[in-house]
Amino acid sequence: MSDIASLVASATAQIDAADSIEALEAQRVQLLGKQGQITGLLKELGSMAADQRKAAGEAVNRAKDEIGTRIAARREQLEQAVLAARLSSERLDVTLPGRNGSRAPMHPISRTSERIAEIFARMGYELADGPEIEDDWHNFEALNFPPHHPARAMHDTFYFPDGRLLRTHTSPVQVRYMRERKPPFRMIAIGKVYRSDSDQTHSPMFHQMEGLLIDETSSFADLKGTLKQFVDTFFERDFAMRFRPSYFPFTEPSAEVDIRWEQPDGSARWLEVLGCGMVHPNVLRQCGIDPERYSGFAFGIGIERFAMLRYGVNDLRAFFENDLRFLRQFA
Ligand code: PHE
Repeated sequence: MSDIASLVASATAQIDAADSIEALEAQRVQLLGKQGQITGLLKELGSMAADQRKAAGEAVNRAKDEIGTRIAARREQLEQAVLAARLSSERLDVTLPGRNGSRAPMHPISRTSERIAEIFARMGYELADGPEIEDDWHNFEALNFPPHHPARAMHDTFYFPDGRLLRTHTSPVQVRYMRERKPPFRMIAIGKVYRSDSDQTHSPMFHQMEGLLIDETSSFADLKGTLKQFVDTFFERDFAMRFRPSYFPFTEPSAEVDIRWEQPDGSARWLEVLGCGMVHPNVLRQCGIDPERYSGFAFGIGIERFAMLRYGVNDLRAFFENDLRFLRQFA
């Protein structure tokens, strides 16, 4: 017991000299661990005479506290040093110029969609949205395709086992929009549609834009004017346009629209670019709109078709292969 003071003195010197956290830990074990020197002294107390034990116990405990405090202080210093070393070795020079990231240009389909949405926004059309997984009612029934209607066969629908389906066109968005609002209104919807069809000009997933206007005075002439203005603005040209009678269950009358496409060599051909018509009274009725009071027109365009024409792409599949050499051309 007499040499407690010198034990504390040499221990503190060693603790202060420990140059790593590991070395300090070894010191701690040697002093305060189960087999440690201080622990040994505490064990010795049991064999002491009762009159000496109290004073000796206090002295050993004081030594233990002192050493413990010293170790904690040294540990703190060593940890600070480790941290400081790490901070200086991992220092970031935020003034260094960054690496040149190669940012991809916007995908031509997105660009085309945005351009179309912008043109219609200027004409007062609100952008609407609907689900890609639809039910039969919104995709067909409400659009005047009764259950066994032959026009359903044109759509090559992907069905889910529960009877729902991947929408085959954006027209169900019309239905949802009309049911939620009171006319007059004009809206467009742009999004993915799905048909089980695949070749150079068909892809099982493609994009459509739907347009719809309902009010008390709309006419087929308004439809023609709207589409002419849209197509000319989109292509920045003044096209000859042709409306060919066609058939869609949800419009009557219906038309397909061709534009006179001039080639660089001077030749020209008619290209079909969209489908349209006056909204069928059955559709209005199904959507809670009185066909005696309101009428309107709708149109649907293929985004890929417009993108192919605008950018001179002749294989639709190029849009979905994500070949960077192709996509970079749209920077
Ligand atoms: N939904 C039609 C289609 O996918 C296009 C269309 C939309 C036609 C609106 C007329 C009116 O073929």
